[in-house]
Amino acid sequence: MRIIAEQRDLAGLRGCVLVPTMGALHAGHTALIRRAVEAARGARPVVVWIFVNPTQFNEQADFQRYPRTLSPDVGLCEAAGADAVFAPSVDEVYPPGGAAITPAPPAQAEMGLEDRFRPGHFAGVCQVVRRMFDMTRPTAAVFGEKDWQQLQVVRAMTAQDKLGVEIVAHPTVREPDGLAMSSRNRFLDRDQRSRAGAAARALCEGAGASTAGDAEGVMRGILEGSGLAVEYAEVREPESLARVEPGWRGPGRALIAARLGSVRLIDNAPWPG
Ligand code: PAF
Repeated sequence: MRIIAEQRDLAGLRGCVLVPTMGALHAGHTALIRRAVEAARGARPVVVWIFVNPTQFNEQADFQRYPRTLSPDVGLCEAAGADAVFAPSVDEVYPPGGAAITPAPPAQAEMGLEDRFRPGHFAGVCQVVRRMFDMTRPTAAVFGEKDWQQLQVVRAMTAQDKLGVEIVAHPTVREPDGLAMSSRNRFLDRDQRSRAGAAARALCEGAGASTAGDAEGVMRGILEGSGLAVEYAEVREPESLARVEPGWRGPGRALIAARLGSVRLIDNAPWPG
């Protein structure tokens, strides 16, 4: 497997199936890489992008403490069947003095979910996704469903700007108690970790409610009952992420975000499940 840090060394990997990540890889990423290997069918190279993108962090402290674990990450990529890891520096992605492309984020980026709590986040995501597509020229890219709003933003931007990249979605990978795998879960202490399963439980119980309004009440109740500070717990139209009436019966997507100490948990599921 090749480990690359500079764009000029990507020659021969054009047309790849790309797996965009910020590193600190876990079993959820392994699943994305395996999905990419499947999509590539041995005919296209699979490249894992590892880059902690400074422009998408709305809190400097979160950027500073984001785990950087390149050497185990490389081992995981190789074991999962990737052909190359591309781990560029900040200057390689955003050359000093270079004209930064800052695409206008699509409507999905301003639907009052993540964007309400992470101002500027999706502008940074759109910027880095455009840049990584320009640098690696993939035919397809695999994104996890865990970041549902991000998935819809990237899909919409790719269509709107006619980027010609197939966006492949992969379901969320979960711990035995349902907690969605995330690089930030390592920051949960024992007590927080034991309560974090409430996020998946809320989605599961919410899926049993017959209206969107009832589901939102059920989800909020479970999260608050486990001591999580709820940022949002909502049912939305799955692709446009448009708000729905309380009496709406779906099908939609339930999306939640809640804080446990300094860790933000986000999760989502089809609604009704
Ligand atoms: O989902 C992520 O890890 C990041 O937002 C992404 C898509 C790699 C862009 O930095």
